[in-house]
Amino acid sequence: GRLEKFVDELPDMPVLRGYGVGEGGQLVAGELTVGMYDTTWKFHRDLPATRVFAYGTSKETATVPGPTIAATRGVPTRVTWTNHLPPRHFLPWDRSLPTARPSTGVPTVVHLHGGVQQSTSDGHSMAWFTSAFASTGPHFTSPAYTYPNEQPPGNLWYHDHAMGLTRVNILAGLLGAYRVSDPEAEARLGIPSSGGEFDRNLVLFDRDFTSAGALFMNATGNNPTVHPQWQPEYFGAVLVVNGKAWPFLRVRRRRYRFRILNASNARFFKFSLSGGLRFVHVGSDSVYLAKPVVTDEFLLAPSEIADVVIDFAQTAKTAGAVVLRSDAPAPYPGDPGEKADTVAVMKFVVAREPERDPSTVPATLMARYPRPDAREAVLTRRIAMYEYTRNGTDEPTHLYLNGLAYTDPVTETPREGTSELWEVINLTDDNHPLHVHLAVFAALEQRSLRRVDDFRECMRGSASGGLGGRNDAEACGMRRHLAGGRRHAVPRQERGWKNVFKVKPSTVTTLLVRFRPLEEEEEDEVGEGRSGRFPFDVTAGPGYVYHCHILDHEDNEMMRPMKIVR
Ligand code: C2O
Repeated sequence: GRLEKFVDELPDMPVLRGYGVGEGGQLVAGELTVGMYDTTWKFHRDLPATRVFAYGTSKETATVPGPTIAATRGVPTRVTWTNHLPPRHFLPWDRSLPTARPSTGVPTVVHLHGGVQQSTSDGHSMAWFTSAFASTGPHFTSPAYTYPNEQPPGNLWYHDHAMGLTRVNILAGLLGAYRVSDPEAEARLGIPSSGGEFDRNLVLFDRDFTSAGALFMNATGNNPTVHPQWQPEYFGAVLVVNGKAWPFLRVRRRRYRFRILNASNARFFKFSLSGGLRFVHVGSDSVYLAKPVVTDEFLLAPSEIADVVIDFAQTAKTAGAVVLRSDAPAPYPGDPGEKADTVAVMKFVVAREPERDPSTVPATLMARYPRPDAREAVLTRRIAMYEYTRNGTDEPTHLYLNGLAYTDPVTETPREGTSELWEVINLTDDNHPLHVHLAVFAALEQRSLRRVDDFRECMRGSASGGLGGRNDAEACGMRRHLAGGRRHAVPRQERGWKNVFKVKPSTVTTLLVRFRPLEEEEEDEVGEGRSGRFPFDVTAGPGYVYHCHILDHEDNEMMRPMKIVR
């Protein structure tokens, strides 16, 4: 039967403090141990308990999503990640993909998404480990990770990143929110900012369940002679917020802040609110905006984070509730002209009594971050997205970046302290949220490719079957296709520094990617005043990656290594 909506109250996940308090009251580095457990979780009043893999400080307290880690800027958090998972996975694991190959057990490795950390603590896909470290990947060194938290305040999240298994492990429940706070600077803004009743994390994903309440993932691939189980995108019919299907939240007539994370494998959300309420955006991904941006609706791709204020005092006296809804087709953007139904995500039950609201959203937020300036780029790279088919069917078998497999030699070797222009060329029909580890970037422009069909056709016939040989792209007259196409405006709330950007189909998107720490600039500072160095040896360890954050794409080779050099 169908699950009834709005019957479960929105939970808050447990909070783990990422810092300690010294004898004199000063903050000191935090030490946490967070485990991955084989346990159960109630996703809905009428669903039996569901088997999950969950993060927590013990099996009894593990949750889906996992606990929210609350870190403070400048105070390191050390987390020892431990794997208590069983010998076998309970979801399909397609061994025909490039994947972790342990002797036994479920390989896991944790990435702090949006975190600026050394690559030995970045959760490299080949640094995986199984229960009791019985089996470890070639890049495994230590399960104790250090997050320096020397980055501006904002929203991060942690999630599994094991090679070829990321989509499966996250689907099983291995994800959670992480926040870096700068208490003084944020208190000055006047927005609810310390966590607590008026400042909530909303972690969203979609899932399918069997009638017995088990997580359902199709075990037959779309092109099974190549990949027996891999599907190009996972979509579930049940929308889950903070671990509950279509929950409700009682709110007062005042402002609330919601840090909304799309933790779905592949589903995009296009959010709006009933009753004419609007979103006031204060941050995007891990960074505050310079100024707030008001929208009636906005699109959130997998792994993007929107930080918004909603003022429930604007709710009509006669309306007792506001519904958060979405109308994005899946896959996104789908066939032209196709419009998905508007569906409810969750409900806010608004109190009748008016109240005095001490919070505010100031006209200026964090205005001292450097402005994106294309002139600081030291070089331009082209990153092409291409989908491959085989066996004469139209069903994709894998996706590559620049026609290269994940294991092909590193081609992206940015120099520490510099910025680069990345022209991302999307020759597929899907919108791909591109994510770069370590860096932040700004989307400078997005343009339609000219005569994209000719371009695609030419590439299809080229030697590597894709953009692998950049020569192929040149031979196909790439420049002609890149220049002068229709311009797509970058949404105003996405014009700051981000770590994920939605690359629309048949477009070329120019990103200014910054391989130096993001810091506030002093009034009198001229340009490159600082060293541009990271607070750790950024060249050490196995290096970083960039990838499409549709998890099913990432797992089937839409990911490439990246090494930072000095
Ligand atoms: Cu959110 Cu490479 O990851």
